[in-house]
Amino acid sequence: MAEFTLRLRRYDPGSGRAPYWDQHTVELEPHRSVLEAILQVKDRVDGSIGIRCSCMAAICGSCGVRINGQPGLACHTHLDRALACARDGVIEVEAMGNMPIIKDLIVDMEKVHWKKIRRVTPWLLPEGVVPEREHLVDRDAMVDVTQSMACIQCGACVSDCLTMEVDPLFIGPAALAKVYRFVGDPRDARERERLVDLAEDPHGMYSCTHCFKCIDACPKGVAPMSQIMRLRRRATSDWHIDDANNGRRHEEAFVTLVRDYGLLHEAELLPRSYGGNSWLGKFHPAAGKVLLESLPVVTKAILRGKVGIRQAMFGHKLPAQSLDQVQRIFDRVEGRPQRVEQNLYVSGEDDDGAARAADRAGRIEKAVTAQRSVVR
Ligand code: SF4
Ligand code: SF4
Ligand code: FES
Repeated sequence: MAEFTLRLRRYDPGSGRAPYWDQHTVELEPHRSVLEAILQVKDRVDGSIGIRCSCMAAICGSCGVRINGQPGLACHTHLDRALACARDGVIEVEAMGNMPIIKDLIVDMEKVHWKKIRRVTPWLLPEGVVPEREHLVDRDAMVDVTQSMACIQCGACVSDCLTMEVDPLFIGPAALAKVYRFVGDPRDARERERLVDLAEDPHGMYSCTHCFKCIDACPKGVAPMSQIMRLRRRATSDWHIDDANNGRRHEEAFVTLVRDYGLLHEAELLPRSYGGNSWLGKFHPAAGKVLLESLPVVTKAILRGKVGIRQAMFGHKLPAQSLDQVQRIFDRVEGRPQRVEQNLYVSGEDDDGAARAADRAGRIEKAVTAQRSVVR
């Protein structure tokens, strides 16, 4: 047994009282969870503490909270580990972010998380004759969607999504990961429609800023950002879908510039993203408009020494040998007959190491031995 001090963020929107911190001490074995500690306080000291939980085993997804500022599952966080990350020897627990608080540690998942999940039609849309028994599906394709299927809808990724903080309409990491579960499933017949929908929505898949927060937050290794990248890859490389945020043209310009210059030529990126992916792009009226709009930012960057005039005009110069190496990488990757994606979920390790790997092994059986999942 050891003593742990918890600092709980209390807030009851209906009370008219401002949020406040409430401190309690518990005695529990260090391997016990933060949830068990909160329930002990609720049971023995203050029954009014608001906390949602059910399975106590990281399966139902209801006990999502922030522990020492990081989102996660209270039932899946050991007290000793939480203490190791505490700033002043006190474990701080508060409600998740980006969702309204109902009471204390309970957020309104319905208003944000579930609304966004419903937005993406979260069920399979097959076409054709329903087979008498089952659909036969390519094994690799199912291994590929296993990662997104592992989601338990806890909302931890939503809690810390930086884009959602500034754009509450953003569809968000959990819902977009859910879309990949169906887009990647060969039984679904609406891959293109789903991707067009996400591309045309100005708060869709191109609003993600690649901040990695959702990958860090997810307790089940779903890596929502990776699923979003897969959606984009399919939308751009496979279906050539243009989008409301100009994301496809921007990505193409980015890739072409790195191939041609070896490094990103920032001054060319904007005009090519809007005016067409070539040196002539800057003469397109659409490019002229955005270039004019960005002049104040560019001027400020030059005045502050963040970019030189010569570098802005002509880009970076790499030695010929280095540029040749970059171009050989492009030739090799683009010369492959099929796109090869490494699915780290089934081939790699993560923080929880062997325990989580064993858990996965049970769920995906033979798939864990696969080194690579070939998509398409
Ligand atoms: S990577 Fe994208 S989806 Fe994930 S938290 Fe950051 S902005 Fe949100
Ligand atoms: S993707 Fe991960 S963090 Fe997000 S809701 Fe699903 S399980 Fe939770
Ligand atoms: S109580 Fe079910 S995931 Fe924590």
